[in-house]
Amino acid sequence: MFNKNGKDDSDYNIKNIEFIKQSSEVVGSLIEKEYLRQKNNIELIASENYSSEAVLAACGSCLSWKYAEGYPEFERKTGNRGRYYGGTDFVDEIEEYCCDKWKEVFNTDYHVNVQPHSGSQANFSAYKVAAMPGDTVLSFSLDNGGHLTHGSSVNFSGKLYNMVFYGVDDNGFIDMDDVRRKAEEYKPKLIVAGASAYSRIIDFELFGKIAKDVGAMFMVDMAHIAGLIAAGCHPSPFGHADLITTTTHKTLRGPRGGLIFSKPELAKKVDSAVFPYAQGGPLEHIIAGKAICAEEALTDDYKAYIKQVVKNSKAFCDEFIKLGYKIVTGGTDNHLFMIDLSSFDFSGRDLQNELDKIGITLNKNMIPNDKKTPKETSGVRIGTAPMTTRGYLEDDFVAVARKIDEKIKEMSK
Ligand SMILES: Cc1ncc(COP(=O)(O)O)c(C=O)c1O
Repeated sequence: MFNKNGKDDSDYNIKNIEFIKQSSEVVGSLIEKEYLRQKNNIELIASENYSSEAVLAACGSCLSWKYAEGYPEFERKTGNRGRYYGGTDFVDEIEEYCCDKWKEVFNTDYHVNVQPHSGSQANFSAYKVAAMPGDTVLSFSLDNGGHLTHGSSVNFSGKLYNMVFYGVDDNGFIDMDDVRRKAEEYKPKLIVAGASAYSRIIDFELFGKIAKDVGAMFMVDMAHIAGLIAAGCHPSPFGHADLITTTTHKTLRGPRGGLIFSKPELAKKVDSAVFPYAQGGPLEHIIAGKAICAEEALTDDYKAYIKQVVKNSKAFCDEFIKLGYKIVTGGTDNHLFMIDLSSFDFSGRDLQNELDKIGITLNKNMIPNDKKTPKETSGVRIGTAPMTTRGYLEDDFVAVARKIDEKIKEMSK
């Protein structure tokens, strides 16, 4: 892994790149450039992280060659495995082990499906379990912090379902009165909680109660905060939600992919909504990476890492506040926060581009009631998960805040 000064204490990537270059100079050289960028830049994208080399190696292993449509479960009636291919003994064991480990991570007896290729595909399948096309779904609006798959008109969610949205209050906090009002008015089949750009604790218990009161199913997309939940740094949705989806590559620091947890009685529906409804063969190499990620998430080191991610986020955010910046919601409880740039005469995109030039990587982001387009935006989103993996502490982030402040002052001249 890279340290905070960009030194790599493993030769894993270098060796891989040399190997790839023997076959393709073009691809090998481009991967090398990206490797150097990731190693030398200050990475502040809230949805990214650096997984372990063990995760990378599993994802690049011979499991990539194996087809295993179906599930590893033993079928009592036939005495066969529930796979459509032979030769699955070992991937079956890996997938079962992966499922067991993820239940351990979240200390749950919920069913888990580890096959979704991504967070979006996990959501696609989870919606299928709870709602039919045309049914009403209540979720967090994209421009207030939700994700594309929470009902954007250009996404399957907005096209297949009748989406209605709750938003944030004047201080940028999720407006739970709005959630209840809309739930009672629209009687949705499904209520979705979870976000891509929200820096505060989400009250899953209250969401669950509202869903129950109106007879809706409740789904939590915990993609961003799954690592915090695993480490006990954010209240858990388990016990409150019927369906829980996540990615494994953000705060969980694993391979790119998705997971779906569900109440046990929904297990069959979830499994068929993943395969054969949404996907074909599972990516067993990624599932092996997810198993290693779960093992890592169970360690004390990982829990200490997540605690540091949150401490770093607060220190970073506080420094921006001291420097006079407006932060959406006025602070953070998790791994990210957003700077409101609406009082400046440049956009989030401008700041993202200028910071790129000095080796600081973050992303432009809409803020609540943004007057600019999603391509331009009046905000930037900042996360501490990747640089904390590289050993950054509070002071390191304070120094980065000052660098960003210098750039903003230069841009404001
Ligand atoms: C809340 C949330 N859900 C789902 C996703 C989708 O994940 P993926 O990019 O793996 O499809 C994201 C990605 O950023 C997200 O923030």
